[in-house]
Amino acid sequence: VTDFQFDPETYMDLMAEEVPGYPRLQAAVGQATTGERPVRRILDLGTGTGVTATTVLERHPEAALVGVDDSEAMLSHARQVLPGDVDLRVGRLEDPLPTGPFDLVVSALAVHHLDGPGKADLFRRVAAVLGPQGRFVLGDLVVPDDPADVVTEVDGEFDTPSSAADQVRWMADAGLAARLAWADKDLAVMVGDLPP
Ligand SMILES: C[S@@+](CC[C@H](N)C(=O)[O-])C[C@H]1O[C@@H](n2cnc3c(N)ncnc32)[C@H](O)[C@@H]1O
Repeated sequence: VTDFQFDPETYMDLMAEEVPGYPRLQAAVGQATTGERPVRRILDLGTGTGVTATTVLERHPEAALVGVDDSEAMLSHARQVLPGDVDLRVGRLEDPLPTGPFDLVVSALAVHHLDGPGKADLFRRVAAVLGPQGRFVLGDLVVPDDPADVVTEVDGEFDTPSSAADQVRWMADAGLAARLAWADKDLAVMVGDLPP
């Protein structure tokens, strides 16, 4: 088990260095949250310094957002950049999620810290907190089909990505209508909609 912790002061430099597609991934996550479905309440898993939450709230400015992250240091930075009524909670993705229903559950670059069974378990719990017409948007580092597409080196301990295909399947196993919405080498955005 690693004791690595993100440092909010150096976080964006780390992303620029290790995840060059970071801005495109955030944009693709934001794009995937749009559609006909009403978005009034959002859950952001692995909020960090608030970049994903900011991107998503730009698309849904009237929505209320609950953010969860296991790092109080990262959340204290997010509190400085997000609106005051955003509800940020210290918590682990492995633990029970905040009470739903949510119209949208979103997560960027956090779920790859869980192993395969941990991801599948999280997806079942996400499906359970989605409200009618709810959507799960997951943007993350993935294991690409072609090893030549690896951009971000992973240690296999703190970073344990899975393939996009496996994650779409685990979303489907959780009862969601799942698809790959965007991909660029070892980054992907997967979407799971709660069926009517
Ligand atoms: C790479 S940052 C992503 C933050 C933000 N979503 C973004 O895209 O910039 C990953 C965040 O997930 C959090 N995290 C990692 N594993 C976690 C876990 N098991 N439970 C809760 N938070 C976790 C870290 O503390 C960190 O803030």
